[in-house]
Amino acid sequence: MTRIEEIARHDGRRVTLRGWLANRRSSGKIHFLQIRDGSGFIQGVMSRATVGDGTFDVTRHLGQETAIEVEGDVRADTRAPGGYEIDITALRVVGPSTDYPITPKEHGPDFLLDRRHLWIRSSRQQAVLRIRHEVIDATRDYLNSRGFVLADTPIFTPAACEGTTTLFPVPYFDHGTVYLTQSGQLYNEATAMALGRVYSFGPTFRAEKSKTRRHLTEFWMVEPEMAWADLDDVIELAEGLVAEVVARVLDRRARELAALGRDTAPLERIRTPFARLTYDDAARLLKEKGLPFEWGGDFGSPDETALSEAFDGPVAVTGFPAAIKAFYFEPEPDRPEISRSVDILAPEGYGEIIGGGQRIADYELLERRIAEHGLPRDAFEWYLDLRRYGSVPHGGFGMGIERVVAWICGLEHLREAIPFPRMLYRFTP
Ligand code: 4AD
Ligand code: MG
Repeated sequence: MTRIEEIARHDGRRVTLRGWLANRRSSGKIHFLQIRDGSGFIQGVMSRATVGDGTFDVTRHLGQETAIEVEGDVRADTRAPGGYEIDITALRVVGPSTDYPITPKEHGPDFLLDRRHLWIRSSRQQAVLRIRHEVIDATRDYLNSRGFVLADTPIFTPAACEGTTTLFPVPYFDHGTVYLTQSGQLYNEATAMALGRVYSFGPTFRAEKSKTRRHLTEFWMVEPEMAWADLDDVIELAEGLVAEVVARVLDRRARELAALGRDTAPLERIRTPFARLTYDDAARLLKEKGLPFEWGGDFGSPDETALSEAFDGPVAVTGFPAAIKAFYFEPEPDRPEISRSVDILAPEGYGEIIGGGQRIADYELLERRIAEHGLPRDAFEWYLDLRRYGSVPHGGFGMGIERVVAWICGLEHLREAIPFPRMLYRFTP
């Protein structure tokens, strides 16, 4: 069996393809079959003279997405999208398909999301999912080649990491309630003290009531954490990662970007170091742009969009007020109301793709913050241990995979950046 993506190696030879019928056109004595096998698409040309009346007449009635095995001769054709066509000599139906619900005409987003298990077969969705794979693969390579050790973190957790308002509770036997993890960070801090440089990569959960195009209730996050690191080290690692991921997708997924109609010029311009902007300057910039933003507030979606449109490439915003950030951020020594935090905003209006910073190293300060944030001390005793036994400056960040995929692919909404999206009103199929 030959895979369509390897078809060039079989030029001039007879091959067998196994796949699905994506589309069919017929003109008198010829059928044009659009065949896909998961690795690519190719046009098969079938003539009555070659295959005979039986196969030719059966083929006329094959529905979209019929599973077929096709035998034929590979022929280079400069007009074909992939550079090759196949002259079909035989066709066998393996799995029939009738009245496939997703036709080449336009469908609304709800119609498609209800049929997400089928929608992912479309060329556009396949392209997004292949780019997602590349983003993940490039991320792992980047971290693995820099001495980071993958250390998985638990999904059932006893307490909040990113604020108590977005926790998903789960009943846990007779022990009461545990929560689906919002972030592996606290555990990464522990493994970083064991292994030096670590990362977690897994699903994370936020009970986000906000129904925006940037929020999922379940999303995948990669979270590197480094012992002996400050905010600058964190920013440098984050910039390098983003630049590397973009370069890798441009290099290896040009075909998919083209299938999506993505203008790659803004991606090709990305260089490190990224522009830097303090929160103070960001607040001024938003006011200048006429947005109703006040110092001390958190960026809403319109603010992020405005900031990210103000720069040609990604921008690293640093120094958020401690009051709007999670409990664990190290304060600036000479300005304790400011946290040693960073958000990286993607350009073209995409907004935050990375959030992170330097963590509190001091035992007493951390203890105080846990109390100020009304967090249950019991659940954080183990975390305080990290400051009791050999505490060092350390930091890291989290990068949301779907945010990055949506930006690189130029998607309107995060829901297309994951095979099966979970949102406020969407948890099927
Ligand atoms: O900024 P966040 O909340 O940071 C953390 O969770 C840190 N504990 C990470 C760390 O330092 N180890 O989330 C990090 C990233 C965001 O920048 C965004 O890309 C993504 O996770 N993210 C979401 N993606 C989709 N849907 C949501 N509801 C998201 N919330 C955050
Ligand atoms: Mg954030």
